[in-house]
Amino acid sequence: MAKQIPVTSRASQIEYAIRDVVVPANALEAEGHEIIKLNIGDPLAYPGLPTPDHMISAYQKALLDQKNGYSPAYGIPELRKAISNNEQNKLNGGWSCDPNDVYVCHGVTEALQIIFATFLDPGDEVLAPGPHYPPYMAYPQLFGGKTVEYRLDPDNNWKIDFDDLKAKMNDKVKLLVLINPNNPTGNVITQQEIEEIVELASRWENCTIISDEIYDRLNFNGNHISTASVSSNVPVITLNGVSKVYYAPGWRIGYMALHDPINKLSNIKDGLERLLRSRLCASTPAQYGYLAGLNDDDAWMNDYLSTLKERNDVCVSLINDIEGLSVEKPQGAFYMFIKLTENHWNNRDKDFVLDLLHSKHVLTVHGSGFSNQYGKNHFRVVFLPSEKILIEAFNRIDDLLNERRN
Ligand SMILES: Cc1ncc(COP(=O)(O)O)c(C=O)c1O
Repeated sequence: MAKQIPVTSRASQIEYAIRDVVVPANALEAEGHEIIKLNIGDPLAYPGLPTPDHMISAYQKALLDQKNGYSPAYGIPELRKAISNNEQNKLNGGWSCDPNDVYVCHGVTEALQIIFATFLDPGDEVLAPGPHYPPYMAYPQLFGGKTVEYRLDPDNNWKIDFDDLKAKMNDKVKLLVLINPNNPTGNVITQQEIEEIVELASRWENCTIISDEIYDRLNFNGNHISTASVSSNVPVITLNGVSKVYYAPGWRIGYMALHDPINKLSNIKDGLERLLRSRLCASTPAQYGYLAGLNDDDAWMNDYLSTLKERNDVCVSLINDIEGLSVEKPQGAFYMFIKLTENHWNNRDKDFVLDLLHSKHVLTVHGSGFSNQYGKNHFRVVFLPSEKILIEAFNRIDDLLNERRN
């Protein structure tokens, strides 16, 4: 074999558990097995939760109207305005969002890369919840930064452990991340907790809060509140987009919106804008699709939410009847972060996921993929599939637990 050209350690160490488990699943599918896939947070991967027609028509119309050129680097002005209206008029927690502080990206995922590139110098820290959505661990290191996890309490609905968070704050922390509602735990942060977080962050003058609110309206008790609405002094960057609440993750449109109440982010804004201009723009026609979602009637969302609530209830009651599992009931998003309670699986959540895949053809994600320290002994399922499929999946999970116990 020819001598291999070296890969950087930066790239070779990247892991994304949610898609990494797909590799063995694909191999099984290639052998002709049918896999129940509960691994990926994509509503379109399951029947019954389609992207609404009026959004698709707007996207199509943009294509036919030749809106196929580059758009302005920060997003089409109509969309920036619609996003700012949406942030201002949120049922809970509207805040004075200016369209000029809204930047449309190729999904929240691109926004994160741009934010980390702008904020982090070598040695800087990002405080992220443990467990967390994996890019919060993977990306900061690309820029020499380091992610430190603060503990979410597995026995108290995955609420933030404030003692742990306080102990980990320091001058190197440039970004404090909230994921609300949380992936993978489904926890929704209360207003009182947000107030406490903002107060804590205000004691550290280098600290900006990232508030990832991509599941904001997938909130089963209607109590989600935006972080920006609570902060009168700490800068907050709100992240959201078309992927989850508007059921169109493949369009790859998201945004960051800056709330800078005491004007600390002028240099950061300049850096963000330079990076945004250098990567040209987000998809132009897809922005028109999202615009229709934001501007048109959104009564359809209630039906979708009711479906998710039902599936949440179904999963929790199934889990409660299975020996060897327990779960804190999610209050938002569409994930269950399930604990493996038996000694047999202690520190073996990845083994469990692989065993379940190979023996029962159900694909889930190991909890340690969301945090080695705080996610182990758990696995994540999405509750987007129909009740029938969920029941079948949990029957197979129950079977596996019984077989391995005996
Ligand atoms: C917390 C969180 N943020 C961001 C994303 C990805 O967002 P986008 O599709 O806009 O890149 C996900 C996807 O699962 C997520 O769970």
